[in-house]
Amino acid sequence: MPLPKAELHLHIEGTLEPELAFELAARNGVELPYADTEALREAYRFEDLQSFLNLYYELMAVLRTEQDFEDLADAYLARAAAQGVRHAEIFFDPQAHLARGIGMGTVVEGLWRALGRSETSHGVSTRLILCFLRDESAESALETLAAAEPYLDRITGVGLDSAEVGHPPAKFREVYEAAAALGLRRVAHAGEEGPPAYITEALDVLGVERVDHGLRCVEDPALVERLVRERIPLTLCPLSNVRLRTVDTLADHPLPAMLDAGLLCTLNSDDPAYFGGYAGDTFDAVRATLGLDEDRLRELARNSFLASFLEDDEERRAR
Ligand code: ADE
Ligand code: ZN
Repeated sequence: MPLPKAELHLHIEGTLEPELAFELAARNGVELPYADTEALREAYRFEDLQSFLNLYYELMAVLRTEQDFEDLADAYLARAAAQGVRHAEIFFDPQAHLARGIGMGTVVEGLWRALGRSETSHGVSTRLILCFLRDESAESALETLAAAEPYLDRITGVGLDSAEVGHPPAKFREVYEAAAALGLRRVAHAGEEGPPAYITEALDVLGVERVDHGLRCVEDPALVERLVRERIPLTLCPLSNVRLRTVDTLADHPLPAMLDAGLLCTLNSDDPAYFGGYAGDTFDAVRATLGLDEDRLRELARNSFLASFLEDDEERRAR
């Protein structure tokens, strides 16, 4: 029995497996510039975050209808459930779809067709987090939030993702203030490729409750001390860090030292179709390679529920 866990850092578009990409391409008459799934998998050799994002955005061309978004989410939820995920807080990137002429309603309602029945169909409770693309303008983020207003009953929070370096959190102060005023929870990617100062800025300027990745906090002892003191959760994604070369190998990952320092770490899969593993695979990999004992693994699983946006009673039930 895999350890029950919550997944808090998961881009739904990053769960698009090559087989489903080709199936949706055929269904929608979209031509992919790869001969077959094997040729596509060959392209999964990344130098850094940007080289991954290029492929990630390119493959989104196959996602066109509500049915496509439903099928994508359903496939993820089935895989996650099989690996012990009981609760998933799922990111989506509406700007990448709006830019292709796909409406906000198509994306949200399509995802919701799978998410809304997920507790019954997969035993997984869910939340949806709308991410702004930080390499797009602040105005575009504001327009995106406005486009999401009719769907806010489906959306729990906002996040910030895409190319990090050169796009500090403060650029999005206004849209985060607007999101907070609408009652939305706030998270942001920070300290994945960007410097520790971006983590501080996400906390102080955007008011985030969790930091996605946050890996580079280890370079700033005063920041580590603050994150420990304030019990700020970090949603770490070790398999992603290896594939995007933010760490050399999994054996070099600072997770054990971060846990020893008292940081509230959680383990997540980020873009599992691209990075070689879902939530349970991630737990298995860190157990095997970083030598974490059962107590540490249980701590990570417990942290994932503590750091989630589930209410206390729901949280106990999910565990
Ligand atoms: N979008 C999808 N995956 C991402 C990641 N790891 N970092 C930033 N943006 C992303
Ligand atoms: Zn991410």
